[in-house]
Amino acid sequence: IKRITAPDLRARKGGEPIVSLTSYHAHTAGLLDRFCDMILVGDSLGMVMHGLPSTVPVTLDMMILQGLAVMRGSSRALVTVDMPFGSYEESPQQAFRSAARIIKETGCGAVKLEGGVLMAETVAFLTRRGIPVIGHIGMTPQSINTFGSFRARGRDEADWPEIEADARAIAGAGASAIVIEAVAEPLAAKITADIDVPTIGIGASNACDGQVLVLEDMLGLSPWVPKFVKRYADLGPAIASAVEAYADEVRSRAFPAKEHTYPKKQAKS
Ligand code: KIV
Ligand code: NA
Repeated sequence: IKRITAPDLRARKGGEPIVSLTSYHAHTAGLLDRFCDMILVGDSLGMVMHGLPSTVPVTLDMMILQGLAVMRGSSRALVTVDMPFGSYEESPQQAFRSAARIIKETGCGAVKLEGGVLMAETVAFLTRRGIPVIGHIGMTPQSINTFGSFRARGRDEADWPEIEADARAIAGAGASAIVIEAVAEPLAAKITADIDVPTIGIGASNACDGQVLVLEDMLGLSPWVPKFVKRYADLGPAIASAVEAYADEVRSRAFPAKEHTYPKKQAKS
């Protein structure tokens, strides 16, 4: 099967909503592959997989390792790998070196980076040199140290022009799509109507051209989730009760039973 490409995603503007979730490993990527147009190897893996306090400490090597796993586990969806903090902001050249490593070493179809007007030159630099880029605007978690909180943006109309300018700049620079995170509905709707590339919302209403969520959040595996997450399953308690049953059976020697045990070979008669 041919994989969905960044141009395929770009062509989805205004059409059937784009379905996306995050994955960091082969087995979940395989499960998502049937249903998702795009699998995002998000730098949220820093928190979800490594217990880091934010995405800021995530490295390029961490992204490449998990990007490779997701590529091996999937065959149909577009795989987009996040560029981690510190790997692209300095210059378009630095961004190209980092993005080229991601593309060459994982085989993924696109990279994603955070930022608006300030990153437009970099987005143009990469796309003109063969690297499809997905933008990410609104609440951008890599800027937590300057934002000071993960609060939603654009709830005050006075903040709209800046965020709209970010969207227009990244779209104009040639991005294949733009993730809009934690932005008030009317602003997300306005941006989606204004730009000609698909918007993929996370906490940005159903006015966007598609949606993305962190897989562990929607499965109920994350200890805390933002308001915008719907829990489609409650796997945390399911895993806890499975582990509890296992622990009880190991302690009582009920597990392993006969059917899980290798008997001695019977002598041939
Ligand atoms: O890192 C991530 O998971 C993301 C999504 C939340 C958009 O960037
Ligand atoms: Na991210």
